[in-house]
Amino acid sequence: MFNIYYRFGVLMAEKNRSEWNSTFGFMMAMIGSAVGLGNIWRFPNVLYSNGGGSFMIPYIVALFLLGISFVMVEYALGYRFRASVSKILYSINNKLESIGWLILLIIFFILTYYVCVIGWDLIYFVLSFTKAWGADPNTFFASNVLQASGSIDGFLQFVPWVVISVLVVWGVILAITRNHLNSGIEKVSKILIPLLCVMVVVIVIFSLTLPGASIGYSQIFTPDWGALADFDVWLAAFGQIVFSLSLGMAIAITYASYLPKGSKLVDSALTVVVSNSTFEIFNSFGVFSILGFMALSSGVAFNELITDGTGLAFVVFPQVFNLMGFWSLIIGPLFFGCILFAGITSAIALVEPISAAITEKFGIKRKNAATYICIVGFVVSLLFTTQAGSFFLGIFDSFLNNFALLLTIVIECIIYGWIYNFDKLIETMNEYSTIKLGKTWKIVIKFALPLCILVFWLSGIKNTILQADFTSQMIMLVLGIILIIVPIIFTKLPAKNKEYYEVLDDI
Ligand code: PFF
Repeated sequence: MFNIYYRFGVLMAEKNRSEWNSTFGFMMAMIGSAVGLGNIWRFPNVLYSNGGGSFMIPYIVALFLLGISFVMVEYALGYRFRASVSKILYSINNKLESIGWLILLIIFFILTYYVCVIGWDLIYFVLSFTKAWGADPNTFFASNVLQASGSIDGFLQFVPWVVISVLVVWGVILAITRNHLNSGIEKVSKILIPLLCVMVVVIVIFSLTLPGASIGYSQIFTPDWGALADFDVWLAAFGQIVFSLSLGMAIAITYASYLPKGSKLVDSALTVVVSNSTFEIFNSFGVFSILGFMALSSGVAFNELITDGTGLAFVVFPQVFNLMGFWSLIIGPLFFGCILFAGITSAIALVEPISAAITEKFGIKRKNAATYICIVGFVVSLLFTTQAGSFFLGIFDSFLNNFALLLTIVIECIIYGWIYNFDKLIETMNEYSTIKLGKTWKIVIKFALPLCILVFWLSGIKNTILQADFTSQMIMLVLGIILIIVPIIFTKLPAKNKEYYEVLDDI
C-alpha cells in the first residue's frame, strides 16, 4: 500500500521533472551508457584470456545473476522514486544519503580518467587519416603520445597534446550535458548509437573478408573447458559485466527516473542488456579477425597479439593498419571513430546522475551543475595528462572498479534487498511489463548477488591493494580518504529545496 507521504512525495518530485520524448530515445541513451570502451577493447582481451568460447558460460551466468538482476533493481528504483540516487537513499533511510554521494563521487573519479582515454582516442582518430604513428606504434604511443614515465616521476610535466584533447572531450561533454535532457543526451544518443552500430557492422564485415581472419575468429569457437575450473575466469566474467553494463553507477536509476508512466520496464531492461552483450560479442568477431590477419601477415603468433585495452587500440591496431594498405585509411578512422562515439555516450551518462543529484539538492540550474562538474572534472583529469598520467590511471582504475564500486554494489544489495521492502520493486517492475518477474529475483538480490560480489571484492583487495607497491598504496589511501570525507560534506550541506527531505516512499 502506498501511503500518503509516498503520493505527496512523488507529486513533489514529479514537479518540473524532465521526461524522455520517446522509448526509443531512452533505449538509445541506455545502450549508449553501456556500450563503451569496455565493449570495444576490453571484452576481446577478457574473452581470449579466459578460455575463448568456454568463457561464454561464466559470462552468461554473470549476465543473468548479476547484470540483468541489478539493472532491474536500478530501473525499478529510479522509476518508482523519480529522484536522484542520493535522494532515493535518503528516502529509504535518512542515514543513507551519504552512500548516494559516495556512489556519485566514485563515478565522478571514473569519469575523470575515462575522459582521458577518450582524449587519447581523439588523438589517434586524427592521426589515423595519415597513419602518423609511423613504423613503430609501440614506441610512438608510450614515448611520443603519452611520454609516459611509468611511475610517479613527471607528475607535474604536462603533455600538451593530451591536455588539449582532454579539454576538447570535456568541452563536447559539457556542450551535450548542459542542454535539456531531450535536446542533449537523448538527441545525441539517438544519432550516435545507430551510427555506431552501422560503423561496427562495416568494420566487422570488412574484417571477416581479410586473409587470415579465420585464424582469429576460430579462437572464439575453440573453447578451453579446463578454464571453467579456474576461479579467476569466473571473477573475470563478473568484472566484465560490472564494467560493461556500468553497474552500480546510478545511471539506470537516473535514466529510468525520466521514464513516463506506463513504461514496460522489464522489457526495456532486457533489451538494453541483450543489446550490450550482442554488441560486444559481435564486435569481438571483428577484432579477432583483424588480429588473425595480423598474425598471417606478420608471422607473429596470435596469442602474442592479443593484449589489454590500451595496447590493443593504440599499439596493435595501428600496427595492423600499417599492414593493411589503402583500406586502413577508411577502417582506421572508422575504428577510432567508434571508440570516440561509444566513449562520449558513456561519459555523458556518467555526468547525468551527478548533475541530477546536485540540481535536486542544491536547487541550481541543470546547465550550471553540468558546467561545475565538467570544470572540476577537467581539473582532476589534468592528473592523467602528465607524464605520470598512465601510472595514475592504472591505480585509479583498479582501485575504483575492483574495490570501491564493488563495495557500493554489495551495500546497495543490502539496502534494497534487506532494508527496503523489495516486494515493492517487484510490483513496480511488473506493473506494465509483458515479461513478469518472480520471487527468484528477490533471492538473487538478497543472497546470491551480495555473496558473489563479496568474494569478488575480497579477491580485489588482495590483487589491487595488498599486492600494489608502496606509492600506489599511498595514492589509494588518499583516494579512500577523499571518498569518505567528500560524501559526508555533501550530506551535511543543507538542501536548498526543502522538498529534498520529503520521504518519497513507505518502507
Ligand atoms: N559501460 C561503459 C563501457 O563499457 O565502457 C562505460 C563505463 C564502464 C564507464 C566502466 C566507466 C566504467 F568504469
